Amino acid sequence: MKMNDYRDRIPSLKRIRNGKPPIYFDNACMTLKPDIVVNAIKDYYEKYPACGGRSHHWFTREVDEKVSLSREKIANFIGTKMVEEIIFTRNTTEAINLIGHSFPFNEGDIVITTDKEHNSNLCIWKDLENNKKIKHMYVPSNEDNSFNLNRFEDILKKENGNVKLVSIVHTSNLDGYTTPAKEIIEIAHKYKALVLLDAAQSIPHKDIDVSELDVDFLAFSIHKMVGPSGVGILYGKYDLLKNIGRYNVGGDTISDVFIDEQPIYLPPPMKFEAGLQDYAGMIASGEACDFLSEIGKTNINKYEIELNSYITSKLSCFEEIQIIGPENPAERSGIFTFFIKKPTRIDDNDKALDEKLSDEHNIMIRSGMFCVNCWFNKKLKEGKINRIWFPAFRASFYFYNTKEEVDIFVEAITRELDRLKDIPIF
Ligand code: ALA
Repeated sequence: MKMNDYRDRIPSLKRIRNGKPPIYFDNACMTLKPDIVVNAIKDYYEKYPACGGRSHHWFTREVDEKVSLSREKIANFIGTKMVEEIIFTRNTTEAINLIGHSFPFNEGDIVITTDKEHNSNLCIWKDLENNKKIKHMYVPSNEDNSFNLNRFEDILKKENGNVKLVSIVHTSNLDGYTTPAKEIIEIAHKYKALVLLDAAQSIPHKDIDVSELDVDFLAFSIHKMVGPSGVGILYGKYDLLKNIGRYNVGGDTISDVFIDEQPIYLPPPMKFEAGLQDYAGMIASGEACDFLSEIGKTNINKYEIELNSYITSKLSCFEEIQIIGPENPAERSGIFTFFIKKPTRIDDNDKALDEKLSDEHNIMIRSGMFCVNCWFNKKLKEGKINRIWFPAFRASFYFYNTKEEVDIFVEAITRELDRLKDIPIF
């Protein structure tokens, strides 16, 4: 099947507004859902909307079987054979928080990130630092936003065994750049530090094998990979999961509880999955894995780079446009983020560009800081970007996008640049 044949499987792409279909370029935030995911959710609520794990009736047995199957599919999808290493959370943020709160840190332990982390992989470390549980350090990126392995190793060497965790973005939602995870993990392990990868933007687009990477923890969100929202995954090596603390406790995490003694907790994954769960979401997550496996993530990745190369070739020639991230589109996966180096709202009646794109062309993109505030604020402080350029705009692609959609977007941007032609470039 050709990549665009899968468009037929996405019901929301069939909506028509003002005579036109949607052009959905906000995939780094949330992807659209195929029929099998929607049907799995509907099926649960229509046919067996019961709790899992507690009762013994046939509805519950059906829930348990399907949740187990889904956990198995997710395990296969990321390259582990142990289903116990797959923990359901609400999203990547919660998965990272889980590690932050249950990792056995001692005062003075260091956690390293990059300087372009999503707020989800930064606020928690800032919080722990504020509570004197850890010290947070970061690896300054190269000028083009790529990762600097030498600077990374220098920190580990200098800190001499105090770095306990390296918690690093895999593919950036800011610019699509993918950090050299294999090398980062090898270096971290050489200095006895564990590695947590924020894989929210890599798992949906690239073949990732946790065993091959030898990563210790990995977090991602199912809603960014055609699955339901409100479901995330934490992968962890089993022995590590067994030995770290707890985050959320209560029903389903225990084998027994006493009024005057400590509860007895279950092993992973149950130790971390407290309370009634989003069973429909958990079940539909397995369908999302099947759907993406059928298309093939190598094909998806190749196709997104094609779209990114195409849009880059059309828009990089405008001197008003400043692309964020490496020059080479092959290093930015399916993410095209840019500034227009001029004010884009001429007066108060002028709509924001992304609103205009949505209203006039059904084109959906995201604008702002994309939850990577730290990068923007650091660059502003260093004088490397201009406040007048704000907000940044991001078009992020997936397998159902087309070159024709990119053409419509490019034409709309070109028209906008023409409208702003008398305003100087800042
Ligand atoms: N991380 C999501 C984004 O980049 C929310 O849009």
